[in-house]
Amino acid sequence: MSVLAGKRVVLGVTGGIAAYKAVDVCRRLVDAGAHVAPVLTKGSLHFIGKTTFDALASETTQMSLWTEESPIPHTRLGQTADLIIVCPATARLLSDYRTGRSADLLTATLIATRAPVVVAPAMHTEMWEHPAVQDNIAVLVERGVHIVPPEEGRLAGGDIGKGRLAQPATVVDYAESVLRGHGRDAAGLHVVVSAGGTREPIDPVRFLGNRSTGKQGLAIARAALTRGAAVTVVATVPVDLPGATVVPVATAAEMHDAVLAAATDADIVVMAAAVADFRPATVGDQKLKKRDGTPDIALEPTADILAALGQIKPSDQVLVGFAAETTDLRANAAAKLQAKNADLIVANDVAGAKTGFGHDTNAVVILGADGSDESVSLTSKREVADAVLSAAVRRVPPA
Ligand code: CTP
Repeated sequence: MSVLAGKRVVLGVTGGIAAYKAVDVCRRLVDAGAHVAPVLTKGSLHFIGKTTFDALASETTQMSLWTEESPIPHTRLGQTADLIIVCPATARLLSDYRTGRSADLLTATLIATRAPVVVAPAMHTEMWEHPAVQDNIAVLVERGVHIVPPEEGRLAGGDIGKGRLAQPATVVDYAESVLRGHGRDAAGLHVVVSAGGTREPIDPVRFLGNRSTGKQGLAIARAALTRGAAVTVVATVPVDLPGATVVPVATAAEMHDAVLAAATDADIVVMAAAVADFRPATVGDQKLKKRDGTPDIALEPTADILAALGQIKPSDQVLVGFAAETTDLRANAAAKLQAKNADLIVANDVAGAKTGFGHDTNAVVILGADGSDESVSLTSKREVADAVLSAAVRRVPPA
């Protein structure tokens, strides 16, 4: 169940072309079980309709400070909210919020709340980079407002640059992370995550692989990004994580080199990838033909990346491994924790009905080299990611 379930969320929508994406955000919040109260500015109506939100949200859209039913709608909205999200936020909204100029229902509600606030700005690159806007952002961040950074990409009118609204899934992810109380606790850290299963070529068309889809690793990378870290993802699967540095790899050897290179200045390294332990000793440069009979494929071991990281680990780096097990979960995981000199090992029953490869849910035990033992019962891979990241962030020594 999402942490948004049963929460009262005020969804503020201001007048930018990205307002149409707020419809998707509204839908996702409602699907997650939140009670959504939409508050639209006058400007937003140039881009989307009030009726759309009336139909999708949990209550009728509000727009005015002056209504007959309720003389002070902003205080009711502000006081009863568990969370306020402004999506998209224009340069004007940022300026009004910063100065406390409560000129309409949305800005008045923002001033009248003690709930956490998530703001997702969207504007043209020139506006986003303007010192006035950046100054407003800096002040809001200092006051504890959670800013969902805009992305690079195609903007209204065909321009390309920074300023595009974050994806609706990212905005909701921020909201969940803020409600879980994590905020930006990984800000200033470099987190390296490996994800997916490696593919070891047999010939130009065939490979030895495994059933990993990379979901748990990517969820950890997403959690780290949301919580403010600089993130490098070394992955064998496609990665859609704006803001992360992505290093695509295929084989264990490529992953070894990429992870070791990225790890040199990392605060946290998470080896979530399912790395092949063996690879074909020789790779055919032409496709093996059936007519040549059943091939004998001799295997040779690959390098153990986690163990290599464990050997060269700086004292202030937190190294996290996974243990994919089908039997004796705790004992096998504890042995790997020690053998590979990791700080944490996430033991994962890959044979469970709803856990392990390909599922969106997982259940793990997080064992620490310090003797800690934390069970995370069946939940989303995103929540498991937050638990793993929290355990790692707690262990990073203060700078
Ligand atoms: N790992 C690695 N390099 C390898 C094999 C595994 O870095 N060549 C890492 C995985 O990313 C994971 C941890 O080691 O974080 C444990 O992987 P797992 O497959 O559970 O265990 P193995 O060490 O391969 O042992 P076994 O297959 O015998 O269980």
